[in-house]
Amino acid sequence: MNFYVMTLFPELIDAVAGSSILKRGIESGAISVEAVNYREYAKDKHHHVDDYPYGGGAGMLIQPGPVYDCFEELTRRIGKKPRVIYLTPKGRVFDQKAAEELSKEEDLIFLAGHYEGIDERVLDLIVTDRYSIGDYVLTGGELPAMVMIDAISRHVPGVLAAGSAEIETFHDGLLEYPQYTRPEEFMGLRVPEVLLSGHHLNVEKWQREMSIRETVKYRPDLLPGAALSEKERRFASELLKEAEESNEQ
Ligand code: ADE
Repeated sequence: MNFYVMTLFPELIDAVAGSSILKRGIESGAISVEAVNYREYAKDKHHHVDDYPYGGGAGMLIQPGPVYDCFEELTRRIGKKPRVIYLTPKGRVFDQKAAEELSKEEDLIFLAGHYEGIDERVLDLIVTDRYSIGDYVLTGGELPAMVMIDAISRHVPGVLAAGSAEIETFHDGLLEYPQYTRPEEFMGLRVPEVLLSGHHLNVEKWQREMSIRETVKYRPDLLPGAALSEKERRFASELLKEAEESNEQ
């Protein structure tokens, strides 16, 4: 899968893409990440891309021309017009389901704004999707783009070890169970006995129960959307009731 990020700060993109699992995914050929600087499409000799907003107001806006010309050349070079994601706090809030859905695309272009944003006309012309990574305001779209690229890449075959994406947090809409590694005892705390037993069925039952317990404890808001059996749902309701009762005391 190929990611392109239209940005004024390509070094931010390269720094994240050059480390850890994204770096490995790029080296193995499963993904590619390319930063394209739309400042290079500025017309004046000082390479200005921003100007004052019509109607007044604080800050500067990015002009439509350089963004449009950059997009035209990029899509000519790659030979198609992929979906274009604009990062903005006004967008739909990005989540795991969106990450999975977007990972089915062959190519994605991200458009990162800065300052007070980008002239609306070029957004209307080229943007297909608007995403936010949460209800807070950042100084630019580069970090949100990389957050999305990281989460999407984990669903692209060859980026993670086989199976890792299936047994993680949010699988079945639940949080992941707790995990332990050596030593067996740390500061007087022991690894749960069932995990040392070698009994796979009991381990799986314990992990499922712990996923439900963790979700009840930390993210009860996820329970209505979780894939639970009737019996598991009754168990979750009891845990929830117990937690509420102990809060009242
Ligand atoms: N740009 C500024 N803040 C943002 C946010 N929360 N999500 C996506 N893009 C942004």
